Amino acid sequence: MTDLKTDNFQRPIISLRISITNRCNIRCFYCHHDGILPQEYEMTSQEIERISVIAKSIGIKKIRLSGGEPLIREDIIEIIKRISSLGFQDVSLTTNGILLEEYALKLKDSGLNRVNVSFDTLNPQTYRFITKSNYIDHVKRGIKKAAEVGLYPVKVNMVVMKGLNHDEIWDMFQFCKENGAILQIIELLKTESCPDSDFFEDYHYDMNIIEEELKDKATDIKTRAFMQDRKKYFLEGGEIEVVRPMDNTKFCKNCTRLRITPDGKLKPCLLRNDNLVDLMEPIRRGDSDEKLVKLFLEAITNREPYYGGC
Ligand code: 5AD
Ligand code: SF4
Repeated sequence: MTDLKTDNFQRPIISLRISITNRCNIRCFYCHHDGILPQEYEMTSQEIERISVIAKSIGIKKIRLSGGEPLIREDIIEIIKRISSLGFQDVSLTTNGILLEEYALKLKDSGLNRVNVSFDTLNPQTYRFITKSNYIDHVKRGIKKAAEVGLYPVKVNMVVMKGLNHDEIWDMFQFCKENGAILQIIELLKTESCPDSDFFEDYHYDMNIIEEELKDKATDIKTRAFMQDRKKYFLEGGEIEVVRPMDNTKFCKNCTRLRITPDGKLKPCLLRNDNLVDLMEPIRRGDSDEKLVKLFLEAITNREPYYGGC
């Protein structure tokens, strides 16, 4: 087995998050586009496979596909088949759920292990406000279907926003329990790729309030080391995970991810665009595996904690 590579801050690189498109079929007003600036082209499924092979050779254990919305790529099943045949510990995908009912079984059959579904509200009006669309029932059916076909565990990503959905956390928790999903509540994040910076002041919600409530109610609490210091609260026969990126030194200290942009650049940090390492030109001109491994190592060397604390 290949040893894990570690960056200059003693953080092992365990997972690779591949953004396969920046396109999306909805427009969440807060979307940080995975910290990625607009792209001219997208990697092909063969290029994604080649990158995954190199990632495996340097010890990366987990792959997550994200976007944009990954399910709008017409070759999504081929991409998953290519990656899942490489023998990673975990292959997962983050989706907005709109196409999930249609794709769940095909995704499972092509080797995908699990999905995270971005879904912030059970209120149709609030859903329309956030996404500028009316797909709420599609998403609900998608979550149900994903759990049914065994894309386990299905996680629901809920970005908590003041005055919009912060009072829906318990309803969402109930919905998740009823549908065999785990709720993950996420603090709103401000990044340079957010279109409108005012939204942050308007909607950022202080997660301490909800965490105090969770601490009171939980029968058990676990901290996920190597997963950005996420806390997991076990309560009332279910679980809620809390993701708090903003100004969180522990979030950075325990970050074990490397990212790839849709046009094939290694991205050492979600919140930065000034230290990317291009893989696509080297791949397209036929560079060797050794050369690509070097570029991975260069990106790993570029990693430094955005909020300090290592
Ligand atoms: N803050 C927090 N989470 C965000 N996401 C997108 N934009 C933001 C933001 N500004 C979430 C999506 C998705 C995950 C990949 O990132 O809801 O679940
Ligand atoms: Fe952004 Fe995801 Fe919303 Fe699409 S579904 S707009 S990628 S947050």
